Amino acid sequence: MRRRIVLRVLVAVGVISLAVFGTLVWVDSRARERQLGRLIERQALMLSDTIRNATRQSMLLNQRDMVHEIIEQIGRQEGLEKIRVYNKDGVVIYSPDPALVGTRADQRSEACDGCHAAGKPAVELAAGHRTRVFEDATGGRRLGVITPIANEADCEGAGCHLAPAAQRILGVLDVTVSLDDVDRTVAAGRRISVGLSLGGIAAISLLLVGLFHRWVGKPVESLLAATGKIAAGDLDHRVEVHRRDELGQLAESFNQMSARLSEARHQVYQSNKLASVGRLAAGIAHEINNPLTGVLTYSSFLLKRATDEETRQDLETIVHQTKRCRDIVRGLLDFARQVPPKKTRVDLNAVVERALDLVANQLSVQNIQVTRSLRPDLPSLSADATQLQQVAINLLVNAADAFESDDRQIFIATDLKRVNGDEVAEIKVADNGVGIPPANLGKIFEPFFTTKENRGTGLGLAVCWGIVSEHGGTIEVESQVGRGTTFTVRLPLVPRPAAVAGGEASA
Ligand SMILES: Nc1ncnc2c1ncn2[C@@H]1O[C@H](COP(=O)(O)OP(=O)(O)OP(=O)(O)O)[C@@H](O)[C@H]1O
Ligand SMILES: [Mg+2]
Repeated sequence: MRRRIVLRVLVAVGVISLAVFGTLVWVDSRARERQLGRLIERQALMLSDTIRNATRQSMLLNQRDMVHEIIEQIGRQEGLEKIRVYNKDGVVIYSPDPALVGTRADQRSEACDGCHAAGKPAVELAAGHRTRVFEDATGGRRLGVITPIANEADCEGAGCHLAPAAQRILGVLDVTVSLDDVDRTVAAGRRISVGLSLGGIAAISLLLVGLFHRWVGKPVESLLAATGKIAAGDLDHRVEVHRRDELGQLAESFNQMSARLSEARHQVYQSNKLASVGRLAAGIAHEINNPLTGVLTYSSFLLKRATDEETRQDLETIVHQTKRCRDIVRGLLDFARQVPPKKTRVDLNAVVERALDLVANQLSVQNIQVTRSLRPDLPSLSADATQLQQVAINLLVNAADAFESDDRQIFIATDLKRVNGDEVAEIKVADNGVGIPPANLGKIFEPFFTTKENRGTGLGLAVCWGIVSEHGGTIEVESQVGRGTTFTVRLPLVPRPAAVAGGEASA
């Protein structure tokens, strides 16, 4: 495909350049030809007038040898083809070429047309009609100049003409000049121009092809390779972006697109996993719940009636562990219930405040300092307030569980952001706790992943993930071991389809 584009560019540049340069060369050589032609024409007219003036005196004195001599001398000049002096009958009476003397002119020929077009000789010849360009027998271009010889008052006394005073023209001087030099110069100039133009076109074309390859061919090639890799399933492949032009932007968009595809694939995988685990969990929880209730009821009953201390302690352990099992089963049912959100207009700040109230006691017992920054002009959004409250509580409880030192701080904030052109409401829960090791970051949203051994079920974040996804939002985590963790929940203000978004982790 790239080769075809390069070829097209090459052909287009070649054709356009040929047309442009061809026209320029043609116009230039025509102009040069006209200029040189005018120069030669002026010189020929001057020469012709010179011959007439130089021979005038000799003609008046009827010194025919002198006229011959002058015409012969001038006729030796280079480039001067013919000099002929015709009498009024059209017979050559003087010429350096003796073979021409005595020959007769055809008054109907083009050369004579200036004066004899109307059938009888014109008295005067306009300057523009004195010259003509024609091809001789060899095909060479020639310039002919006609100079009428007028019947002057002095001629009447010269005794050689019997012409009456009324006859104004006695004959004509016809000078023929070769245009071979002009044609050779123009042709040489044209050859140089054509050569330079072709060289220029070749250089421009090569340069353009080189630049095209560098600026377009190579980036398109790497984009093509990248699309091939993405099509083959390697969604983590990225194109290197070195430029800020349109192709650079295209590469950047391509990378963004692959990143979102990769993210979407991860979400689909996560959703499927959660859905199947959810179904399994729901089945198990349902089956376990009834026998568990029986065990708890009877063990509690026995505990109340037990008198022997050893038996009491054993029964207390049974009741405690059974209650823990019941909590796990409740958590499983919560997670598996997959209740679609009951959406109303929700004030996110109020949701966060209520969540904080509910965990306030636990936080203060653990000596945790809470800082809040709730954006006052946050618009309400369409959401399930109870579910969002559960998300906030789970994140706050996780943060509260993350402290090992005495410096215990939780920061909770709401904000309004623009992400990929969409307005989103944001909840951030940050702590300065132990942090999450990079190896665990990819697992924390998975159901039953916990580092809390007997204290946790590993369902809190999976539940958060499910709720946020149902709202068309995203949940992200950033964490550094020893420095703390930040969870960011983003919810679209204008509802989007569910399960498009989801969690993302970064260290
Ligand atoms: N703020 C945090 N700081 C450090 N680790 C965290 C934080 N939040 C979550 N984690 C890690 O993610 C794991 C999973 O959390 P999740 O809430 O899903 O389950 P859990 O808290 O272990 O159990 P529970 O079901 O009771 O919530 C936690 O066990 C913990 O290792
Ligand atoms: Mg938890």
